[in-house]
Amino acid sequence: MMTVKEAEQKDVESLIEFLRKAWKEAGPGALGWTGATEETMRHIASHGFLSNLLDRDDTRVFIALNEGQVVGFSSNTRLGDELVELSGIIVLESMTGVGIGRRLLEHSIEAAKGDRYTGMMVKTESFNERAVNFYLRNGFRREATIEEEVEGSNVELVKLVLPL
Ligand SMILES: CC(C)(COP(=O)(O)OP(=O)(O)OC[C@H]1O[C@@H](n2cnc3c(N)ncnc32)[C@H](O)[C@@H]1OP(=O)(O)O)[C@@H](O)C(=O)NCCC(=O)NCCS
Repeated sequence: MMTVKEAEQKDVESLIEFLRKAWKEAGPGALGWTGATEETMRHIASHGFLSNLLDRDDTRVFIALNEGQVVGFSSNTRLGDELVELSGIIVLESMTGVGIGRRLLEHSIEAAKGDRYTGMMVKTESFNERAVNFYLRNGFRREATIEEEVEGSNVELVKLVLPL
């Protein structure tokens, strides 16, 4: 049975375990992991970083649990009174394609509606077709193609939006 819930401080260790496993499965250069290096991952998959993230007023993190293990996460970050960013969504590579991403996205959307946002925005690499198609299938529409610097290199990103 898979469940999705909002992450709490007591979930930090399970999140660390998830991130290490997800990074090991994906590896450098994997789609959706632009900018991730051993060093950034050590920083992100740490107690201090995740504990701070869960404490932030502008961010909410959701986790998918399967048999007590975290198998995916999504996060919402406030951009303004009206707009929220889907600031992250990752499912363990070995668990993709069975609806976990969709369940996480639904949870993020419901939470964003509850928080009275009127739109959700997401940015992803143009070449990450799997993610772009995932967002399009789930109601987002393409808004723009932009260039941004991610960890020192320029990447082309697609910006997609979903009215809430
Ligand atoms: C993008 C990502 C989050 C999607 O997550 P996912 O769990 O694979 O997504 P879903 O399973 O909900 O949907 C993907 C496919 O599974 C299919 N699927 C299979 N069984 C399903 C079920 N029971 N319910 C819903 N969809 C199902 C969907 O139809 C879809 O197939 P399609 O592409 O042929 O239409 C995931 O691929 C991922 O983590 N990628 C790496 C990180 C990344 O790129 N993140 C986004 C960067 S911003």
